[in-house]
Amino acid sequence: MSSTNRRTQRNADDYYVTPHWLIEDFLAAFAENNMLVCSPDEDPRVLDPSAGGCEQYPMSYPTVLEEEGFIVESWDIREDSRANLTGVNFLNVPSYESRKYDMIITNPPFNLAQEFTEHALEMVKEGGLVIMLQRLNWLGSQKRKPMWQKLPLAAVYVHSKRPGFDPLKPSKTDSTEYAHFVFSKGYELAPELFVI
Ligand SMILES: C[S@@+](CC[C@H](N)C(=O)[O-])C[C@H]1O[C@@H](n2cnc3c(N)ncnc32)[C@H](O)[C@@H]1O
Repeated sequence: MSSTNRRTQRNADDYYVTPHWLIEDFLAAFAENNMLVCSPDEDPRVLDPSAGGCEQYPMSYPTVLEEEGFIVESWDIREDSRANLTGVNFLNVPSYESRKYDMIITNPPFNLAQEFTEHALEMVKEGGLVIMLQRLNWLGSQKRKPMWQKLPLAAVYVHSKRPGFDPLKPSKTDSTEYAHFVFSKGYELAPELFVI
């Protein structure tokens, strides 16, 4: 997802490359929050369902998470992705009770963010985490109000530094702010807000 590029052109399957520093900043802030825990020490089952990567670039989330000690399953719809499983439409993968994940984390295709979040929540255990990178204004709009009234949003990590999604132009930032939205299955309290 990139707000800047979306105005002018669309990459195939909405493929953009999330900068590693953005994920590292999020994971560092997230590790300080004792309420929502997913530590590599507990050997959690982690999935990136739209993992990206291509001939030129590695998959952003799996690469950073694996550096932190997590083992990550990776899927993507593109055959030229570097995911473990390619050609997978995440939204068509059934949610089996016996194969629930502890954490599903990704920068999803922009137009499918809500569907990805809802499907991911079906695929995590009770208390499991679903973490999506989105524009901060995902929180707004009348269209999305019913979604925010039902989804178990637990925390929002706002990135004060704008990212860019073109590795060839690392200093060119996007036209809007981004946040990591953390959902926890069954969560019923008010969400927490962090500014990174
Ligand atoms: C915004 S890019 C993000 C890529 C990577 N997660 C990252 O952060 O660098 C979205 C990714 O979703 C993949 N994608 C699009 N539709 C999908 C679907 N229905 N199921 C699985 N992957 C999909 C695209 O191929 C692309 O790699």
